[in-house]
Amino acid sequence: MNLLDFEDDYKELVTFIPNKEVPIHRWYSFVEGYSTELVKKLINEQRVQPRICLDPFGGIGTTALTCSELGIDCISIEANPFFADAAKVKANINSYSKEGVEELVSRLERELLKCNGVVQFPELESITFFEDEHKKKWIFHKSSSEGVYDILSQINRLCINGSVIYRPLLTLSLASILLEVSNVFRNGKCLSYKRNWESRKYSRKQVHELFLNHLRTVVIDDINNYSGNYVDNTNRIILGDSRRAIAEIEEEIDLVITSPPYLNSRDYTDVYRLELWILGYISKFETEKKQRKKGLTSHVQIPIEKVSYPDVPELNSAISYLESSDVKLWNKGIPNMVRGYFNEMEKVIQSVHSRLTTNGRVYINVSNSAYSNCVIEVDVILAKIAELNGFECKEIRVARKINTSSQQSSLIGSEKMRESIIVLEKV
Ligand SMILES: C[S@@+](CC[C@H](N)C(=O)[O-])C[C@H]1O[C@@H](n2cnc3c(N)ncnc32)[C@H](O)[C@@H]1O
Repeated sequence: MNLLDFEDDYKELVTFIPNKEVPIHRWYSFVEGYSTELVKKLINEQRVQPRICLDPFGGIGTTALTCSELGIDCISIEANPFFADAAKVKANINSYSKEGVEELVSRLERELLKCNGVVQFPELESITFFEDEHKKKWIFHKSSSEGVYDILSQINRLCINGSVIYRPLLTLSLASILLEVSNVFRNGKCLSYKRNWESRKYSRKQVHELFLNHLRTVVIDDINNYSGNYVDNTNRIILGDSRRAIAEIEEEIDLVITSPPYLNSRDYTDVYRLELWILGYISKFETEKKQRKKGLTSHVQIPIEKVSYPDVPELNSAISYLESSDVKLWNKGIPNMVRGYFNEMEKVIQSVHSRLTTNGRVYINVSNSAYSNCVIEVDVILAKIAELNGFECKEIRVARKINTSSQQSSLIGSEKMRESIIVLEKV
């Protein structure tokens, strides 16, 4: 495989950090996303401007929104309803007017000033969210949850009739402050309690202010400065499962730019449970379980069947190692997760191939993983799987070297722990 050093160019761009300064992209921060600048660079290196692009793991829509800006149609498939809605809110930029949002924000401000009564919290099967004297821990202090539900009920009350298009926009603004006013932070694979969380409190009014401030300083500003000439890709953002949904696309695709979940046992349903449960997507464990199953196999939060996997030497040896009896793993489901991940990624690659034009390119941003001192070279393995399925791997661009846990780092060569962009071409 042709591994090329692109660290100088891509190190920052494979992260969401640059987007935090970019209008519209900055409406909600997403650690697992990449930057609009990366997408622009990849599009700009095409010989011919693509007509239609696909992102099978669309997240909060970085590829879709960048394509809109560049005048390109884009289909974006996303399994998580909160992320799909976040992508739609941004893609729908043509529908918002500065006057419309400003008027709503002023009305919200007036209504929120009057909110000081008892709040009716929803019935959530998970009891971890709300403060209760019988519990040791809770995710929201009483004043924070009151502030959050004041906002939610006013959004629902005010965004009716002609203003209904603003409801998802305002809800995304609320989503963008949820973590801050909670007692937890995103700690890689899970949510952990902040240090001194018991004494760090937001008052109900401070929660309102934070939300209004985000709208005034970020959202209204971006709507005001919007050039007005993006292609509208809103209806091409599909809430669905790429393992099936790609096959249903009728158009021929020219270009794919994507980043699938990494093989790092991160369950998005867990890491984004504040957004999913508080904003009304989930209220029962059964729904949460169903949501977990909608994602590509890449974590061990649900039982995983033992499935076959593509015949690639690096994968054969990784699985033989992980399945050998003397290897200690922190979860016995890991070998089946690795099998499932590559089994499903092969199917995604096959369906992408069936929809892509000849010589069409696919860019996959992914990182390698390590379990029990065994590096799984996900970039090389995916490239070889693609070559078994009608693609040529032009190169693997190494974007940055990534850290592994301290016990593993002495045993694992850092050159193997890469985050890369795999460049494929349909032959
Ligand atoms: C690494 S993130 C992509 C982030 C995206 N590039 C962005 O900038 O917003 C991977 C995404 O794949 C989604 N996903 C996981 N399984 C999926 C599936 N089977 N079909 C569609 N999307 C899926 C996850 O919910 C997550 O949003």
